[in-house]
Amino acid sequence: MRPIHILQVGIGPVGQRITRYILQRQGFRIVGAVDKDPEKTDRDLGEICALGPLSLTVSESVERIVGKTTVDVALVTTVSQIEEIANQIQEIVSLGIPVVTTCEELAYPWETAPAHARKIDETAKKHKVAVLGTGVNPGFLMDLLPICYTALCQSVEKISVSRIQDAAYRRVPFQKKIGAGLSLDEFEAKKQEGILRHVGLTESIHMIAARMGWKLDRTEDVIFPIVAEQERRINGLKIEAGRVAGVHQVGRGFVNGEEKITLLFKASVGEKNPCDKIEIQGRPPIVSIIPGGVNGDIATCAITINAVRHILNVPPGLKTMADLPVVSCFC
Ligand SMILES: NC(=O)c1ccc[n+]([C@@H]2O[C@H](COP(=O)([O-])OP(=O)(O)OC[C@H]3O[C@@H](n4cnc5c(N)ncnc54)[C@H](OP(=O)(O)O)[C@@H]3O)[C@@H](O)[C@H]2O)c1
Repeated sequence: MRPIHILQVGIGPVGQRITRYILQRQGFRIVGAVDKDPEKTDRDLGEICALGPLSLTVSESVERIVGKTTVDVALVTTVSQIEEIANQIQEIVSLGIPVVTTCEELAYPWETAPAHARKIDETAKKHKVAVLGTGVNPGFLMDLLPICYTALCQSVEKISVSRIQDAAYRRVPFQKKIGAGLSLDEFEAKKQEGILRHVGLTESIHMIAARMGWKLDRTEDVIFPIVAEQERRINGLKIEAGRVAGVHQVGRGFVNGEEKITLLFKASVGEKNPCDKIEIQGRPPIVSIIPGGVNGDIATCAITINAVRHILNVPPGLKTMADLPVVSCFC
């Protein structure tokens, strides 16, 4: 069988890691790369990824590549907001190319952006391809995994997930998104602009609620700074005392006024005791802890690649991780 031909769109830290991971795996071939950053276009993909030359020049447009080679699937690792990515997804899907994306708001857009979700779904069906939003979170740890645990339950009263991470070991854009190193005033200003937060808690809440059959009356997503009480020095990073080390964010979903879903996301440089914890209050109750937590950068890139085979074989339309057969690593 010939390898699956991959088009990569977005060659930031996530896209670059995906390139490296694909080259280590059997069954895939990167046939094109696209990015809009002028620092990356017209350069060799391998050079950008600190590998040897790959004879693949990063282009600024998808059309240029599609005209020249067969593309089986596009991996889109560009932005977090559906508003910003919707046109590009439509464009790729209209070329008859399935999409796997790490766009957080596409992980479960049916409640938060229904018009975009419907439009992408319709276009994907028209062109007989599937679209998937995935990643570590949203896309797995705080939604699909707790959903899977409930398969063991006779009844479920409440689902809580906490993801506590030491951001010193995450990529730079992640550290920026959580405000690491900012003053409190800078943090507040960026929070008001809506650019400082982990994106995806609300999407995860809706994915869980849909699978539980819970009709939510409301959701909330609140965010606070984690301030370094004393200087934090870790993995080459330094956060001065009094400055922001990261975020403490809580997403909640309510049914008839009762909090049924609680998602705690805490990420800061030097955060103590990182772990991922899932608690199902039900019959039987389930508590599952991953000591140390899962490194989100490795996991996001891996799950994006691991989902490719499935997205080529599911019926057309906009899918979520909860719609796919079990995704696993295959070597
Ligand atoms: N679901 C999850 O669990 C999960 C986990 C990790 C990451 N993510 C998301 O994955 C995305 C990629 O992460 P990253 O750290 O690599 O982000 P990044 O540093 O912002 O890199 C994204 C790259 O894509 C380019 N780009 C943006 N819009 C584009 C467009 N329309 N067409 C072509 N290229 C475009 C950017 O160019 P410019 O710099 O010029 O804008 C940049 O080079 C982010 O949105 C991130 O939040 C999701």
